[in-house]
Amino acid sequence: MKVTVVDDDIFATIAATALLAGLPSGGPTLGVATGGTPMRVYAELASRSRRGEVDLSGATVVALDEYVGLDADDPRSYAAYVRTRIADPLGIPSPNVHVPQGDSADPVAAAEAFEQQIAEAAGVDVQIAGIGSNGHLAFNEPGSALDSTTRVVELSEQTRHDNARFFGGRVEDVPRRAITQGLATIGRARSILLLAAGSAKADALAAALCGPVDAAVPASVLQRHADVTVIADRAAWSRMA
Ligand code: GLP
Repeated sequence: MKVTVVDDDIFATIAATALLAGLPSGGPTLGVATGGTPMRVYAELASRSRRGEVDLSGATVVALDEYVGLDADDPRSYAAYVRTRIADPLGIPSPNVHVPQGDSADPVAAAEAFEQQIAEAAGVDVQIAGIGSNGHLAFNEPGSALDSTTRVVELSEQTRHDNARFFGGRVEDVPRRAITQGLATIGRARSILLLAAGSAKADALAAALCGPVDAAVPASVLQRHADVTVIADRAAWSRMA
């Protein structure tokens, strides 16, 4: 595991550079997390793309998760996040963008279809991941099986509370269920770039990287992956002493 601890003002630059270094040329497959932490990294990629410094228009993008009940046009959906913050700015056409179908009438079938889609694709070259304040990875909440695959999950109260900021601060508007790639699904990515920023992540990050590999801290499964790079700011790293 490689670790870089950075000052906040260079977080996005360092993360974008690490990401690009891990992508093969041609048509790479990029796995994307859709939280607040990577937003500035995607903005940095978009800037570099506008300046003609990078060309990711041939990339395929695969999301980690989606809220059940939100359609792709809902601005709060992860499909909208991926489209507006990643695919459109980087010039990636929509057939190359994959997000679980949150508004499917049959979310269980949609989750299975997404798992199948990932299994049939060439594989994720770099998976950008974040960590929840409760140690979750994607929407694999504490208690998720380490060998889990894409499925429908119930979101914890902590996660719904943490994500209420994307729903006008109204926790009651945050969906109760999501489709998420499982921990085994995520583990099939060739490399993983874990991004953590802010003191709210400090305990979870320390538990994930230094504690036992255990379903109680889903992100701890990353200890078993052969190619993980962690980029953390000083606040997120503060419990690692
Ligand atoms: C969210 C997402 C994850 C994300 C994590 C951290 O709920 N489903 O993909 O990595 O939790 O989010 P944030 O970066 O907003 O703290």
